[in-house]
Amino acid sequence: MKTEVLPIDPLTPAAEFIRRAAEVLRRGGTVAFPTETVYGLGANAWDAAAVRRIFIAKGRPSDNPLIVHVAHRRGVEEVVRAVPPEAEELMRSFWPGPLTLVLPRHPAVPDAVTGGLETVGVRMPAHPVALAFIEAAGVPVAAPSANRSGRPSPTEAGHVLEDLDGRIDLVLDAGPTGVGVESTVLDLTCRPPVLLRPGGVTLEELRSVLGEVAVGGPAGAAEQPRSPGMKYAHYAPRAPMVVVEGPVSPSALAQAVWVLATEEAKAGRRVGILATAETAPFYQQMASTRLPAGTFSPLVLVVGERSRLATVAAGLFATLRRFDASGVDAIVAEGVPEEGIGLAIMNRLRKAAGYRIRRVSPPGGPG
Ligand code: TXA
Ligand code: MG
Repeated sequence: MKTEVLPIDPLTPAAEFIRRAAEVLRRGGTVAFPTETVYGLGANAWDAAAVRRIFIAKGRPSDNPLIVHVAHRRGVEEVVRAVPPEAEELMRSFWPGPLTLVLPRHPAVPDAVTGGLETVGVRMPAHPVALAFIEAAGVPVAAPSANRSGRPSPTEAGHVLEDLDGRIDLVLDAGPTGVGVESTVLDLTCRPPVLLRPGGVTLEELRSVLGEVAVGGPAGAAEQPRSPGMKYAHYAPRAPMVVVEGPVSPSALAQAVWVLATEEAKAGRRVGILATAETAPFYQQMASTRLPAGTFSPLVLVVGERSRLATVAAGLFATLRRFDASGVDAIVAEGVPEEGIGLAIMNRLRKAAGYRIRRVSPPGGPG
């Protein structure tokens, strides 16, 4: 199939292109569209055959449920059986925005969407193009991130095409997305509510509204995962990656990263370093002054500023894709503090690293 690409203004989307995308969706097609988090790959949530096309295009396991996107509060009632008071409060506080609520599913929602679960994830994205598109479609839009299964989520239309050109019907290209990591997924079918995936709405923000929120970790081998997505490998760059983290200063962290990177280089590997704006000069200096020229020059990519973690979130997936394109065969990544959006960043980094983590302790501190 040929994938049609429509460039569209993110703030004032052309009505003609929105109409075209809505028409493709209503006819059972698949449409990639921007949200404030990442690009989604949408299909009509009422049309099981269309929804199955998403799974085929992505190579996604069919038991991993999709999030249903709505453009209006009243759209929620069409897909869920009941809206508890906590959900009302969260919708008022964070919608439109990067928060997915897991609620009891309405019987009309096809199994293809929920992976056979009795619950459904629903969210209202905060992007003018997404809202206009869903509104014009006139149906709820089931959409996962618009990447091949296991690849980093797409934050630009170019990433969508890298993975899915020729496999989907249409892409609405509105430029880079803002948040950069996916929505927070919160299970409201239990007490206290459980954070299934940290994301654009922070745990601190959820607790300020709800009080208690439990944190669901990646499922252990014995346990049935609460969020089916948690059991799959995710965001994996092609080169093996290790995350260096711990309660130390940025410069101590960078030194530990440098030691690991040097070891990788000695083993004959071409090394990439995922750095922040604050630490990047340190690596450049080490590479230029401490070693004979040409012996070791890692590819240092700046993901964002650690003093403004939102910039790290925004740059994360594009940086992982740049490492892929560069041909490095090992990546050493700096961790960031798990505060605010940092929790979502570390969740994605650790997953991308297949949980290869090197902990750094402060001098004299606990191990
Ligand atoms: O920001 C986002 O959430 C993006 C944009 C496109 O909206 N979407 C996204 O979808 O990241 P996806 O499919 O890549 O990730 C959805 C996650 C998966 O881990 C899935 O298992 C989980 O949400 N999920 C969806 N429905 C669920 C349900 N009923 N119960 C538990 N987990 C659910
Ligand atoms: Mg995804």
